[in-house]
Amino acid sequence: MIREIITYPNKLLRTVSSNVENFDEELHTLLDDMWDTMIASNGVGLAAIQVAVPKNILIISLPDINDEQKKEDLIEAINPRITHKDGEIVFNEGCLSVPGYHEEVKRANHVVVEYQDRNGNHHKMECEGFLAVAWQHEMDHLKGHLFIEKLSIIKRKKFEKEYKKRTKIRKIK
Ligand code: CO
Repeated sequence: MIREIITYPNKLLRTVSSNVENFDEELHTLLDDMWDTMIASNGVGLAAIQVAVPKNILIISLPDINDEQKKEDLIEAINPRITHKDGEIVFNEGCLSVPGYHEEVKRANHVVVEYQDRNGNHHKMECEGFLAVAWQHEMDHLKGHLFIEKLSIIKRKKFEKEYKKRTKIRKIK
């Protein structure tokens, strides 16, 4: 089932999410709904807080070489932690909670993450590039942060102005 994605400046996006304790039916339904919601919006990642659930849950699905997103390749991460990061990469990021806006953000190029799957089993993953960027972007959501907070003051001001203008146009329509 597709859920509603909350968008900036909704204050709920600033919530610090809490850990999942029960790996139950409710969690599985939420994960399935997050997949449906992300795919319907052409996203490559989604954190639970973006559908207004303040839990440490994120999903990532990068397109494969055929530009397809397959559910069997989906990363479902419960209670994730970044245990190591290094290097540097500048990547043009977007976010389903900041629709219509993309900007370059600097992050670590290489991360090691630990997380649990939907059944509570523990996993460790090492990755770099786009996938490392996606992990860091989604992890930020769980701590109540958005990628626009990483912009320079000038870019941030420009963003606020343009975003407000666009939101107003959307409301008139
Ligand atoms: Co995002």
